[in-house]
Amino acid sequence: MTEKIINLKNEAIGNILEAKEEKELERLRILYLGRSGKVNQLTKELPNLSNEEKKETGRLLNETKKTIEEVLRQAQDKLTKGKEEKEWIDVTAPGIPPKIGHLHLLTQAIREISEVFEKIGFVRVRYPEVEWEWYAFEGLNMPATHPARDDFESFFIDAKPDPKLGKMCLTPHTSNGQLREMERVKPPIRMINIARCHRPNWDIIHTPTFHQFEGLIVDKGINITHLKGVTDYFALNFFGPGRKTRLRPFHFQFTEPSFEVDINCPLCLGKGCRTCKSGWVELGGAGMVHPIVLKNGGVDPEEYSGFAFGWGVERTYIMKSGLNLGDIRPLYESDLRFINQF
Ligand code: PHE
Repeated sequence: MTEKIINLKNEAIGNILEAKEEKELERLRILYLGRSGKVNQLTKELPNLSNEEKKETGRLLNETKKTIEEVLRQAQDKLTKGKEEKEWIDVTAPGIPPKIGHLHLLTQAIREISEVFEKIGFVRVRYPEVEWEWYAFEGLNMPATHPARDDFESFFIDAKPDPKLGKMCLTPHTSNGQLREMERVKPPIRMINIARCHRPNWDIIHTPTFHQFEGLIVDKGINITHLKGVTDYFALNFFGPGRKTRLRPFHFQFTEPSFEVDINCPLCLGKGCRTCKSGWVELGGAGMVHPIVLKNGGVDPEEYSGFAFGWGVERTYIMKSGLNLGDIRPLYESDLRFINQF
């Protein structure tokens, strides 16, 4: 019995000293000291011994147990210390700078455009992008049968139509904001509505979702010179020195008279060059708010007049940056190789 115990002790110590991992130490602890481990198994043999032997063997077993525990503890300490040494950190080493992102090109554009208009008292608003036909078309003097509505081919929502407001659609332009704003506040109105628009087009220069910014001024005595003044102000302050606009007669249902606003070419400033040909590039639509639209917005056209314009954010920003983006789809593709350039 005594020999067995001494052999067990030597075996245990040998194994523990060889263990290289904490997992292995834990396995050895269970093997020797666990409830049905080797030490306890020998303890179970004690009752078979004579009283004299019992005392001596019991003491030896106890001692063996304590020795194994101590060797295990030391082995454990050694492993922990080794680990700490390996994990030593040089606190004086330069850190790895965290990657900092930036606003998306479109968000930058929207902020810049808002700022330019806010400086002359326009208030930035946002109106529903899921809208009733009344605000998107009917109320803007575009009855369902009117061919002009074909230009705004729209996405309709599969929902119950409202008896008064018609079907639900995704806004094809930001002009719904004109009626919404006239409902929200009485004149004087100076609104800039920037929102998503949707039309079922998908090619290199059209994405089904895009953005427009819509300006609206309604007050007493507003006329075309005010429209020209504001578009020139925008050209100068957004695009830079030497830039100005020109109004070209056009047609929209919700403005009378209507115009396309052109801006002079950045290269020749309007003289005409190889890039622009005529000297002018188109910005977007504008006009004097139609009396019917004022009426639909609850404003008396005898007392008030106003002008509105609605231009594409993407188009305008690309024109400013001088980016020769033949394809605007990368704006929506979240490809960091593109986005990180701005
Ligand atoms: N809503 C028109 C469009 O999407 C633009 C426009 C806005 C024209 C306001 C006149 C006045 O093309």
